[in-house]
Amino acid sequence: MPTQAAYPVAFQESHAEGRSLLDLRHQAESCERCDLYRNATQTVFGEGDAQAKVMLVGEQPGDKEDIAGRPFVGPAGTILDECLAAAGVDRSLCYVTNTVKHFKFEQRGKRRLHAKPNAGEIQRCAWWLGGEIDVLKPELIVALGATALQSLLGSSIGLKKERGRTLDSPSGLPVLITIHPSYLLRIRDREEAQLNKRLFIEDLKQISTVVSV
Ligand code: URA
Repeated sequence: MPTQAAYPVAFQESHAEGRSLLDLRHQAESCERCDLYRNATQTVFGEGDAQAKVMLVGEQPGDKEDIAGRPFVGPAGTILDECLAAAGVDRSLCYVTNTVKHFKFEQRGKRRLHAKPNAGEIQRCAWWLGGEIDVLKPELIVALGATALQSLLGSSIGLKKERGRTLDSPSGLPVLITIHPSYLLRIRDREEAQLNKRLFIEDLKQISTVVSV
């Protein structure tokens, strides 16, 4: 039985009644709810099947996503796609989005290095994530990593402790907790990386036990 979690952010931002995902996407293009829009190339809104039963939520767009204007099209997206396929989940049947819709980075010479969004940025952007949830009404949300988890279920839920479990949000919507795929890219030891990839695939396999994808 999933356990109820406290203090989510995204579920407090319920405001999208009567709107479509396209409406939200257009509105988010000019978002200035926090300062991240100043340096990012564009808003990277969620995309995918508007009838999707499953919503995958990452952290924020990376360098490649910022340029392409689409979520999970860079290296993290490649490994996510690979693991989804290994878990028997068709990405095209999912809706894929991020907790924060603008790329946050530090400029080092010509390189733009990923910087973690802070609690205020997560809170501000929950307006959009909450809207996407409201409109899509998925049957299952997959929190990919700590930032998504914080927005969806609150900061009292620990990723290490709860990963692999499905907890109910206060609205009753189940949230499957797992790692962020970019974690796999940062593991130096080959065996450890393979083990963690297998565990990630096992987590993703749970998607099809809850919904058909
Ligand atoms: N990491 C994320 O969390 N989202 C993306 O879209 C790309 C990388």
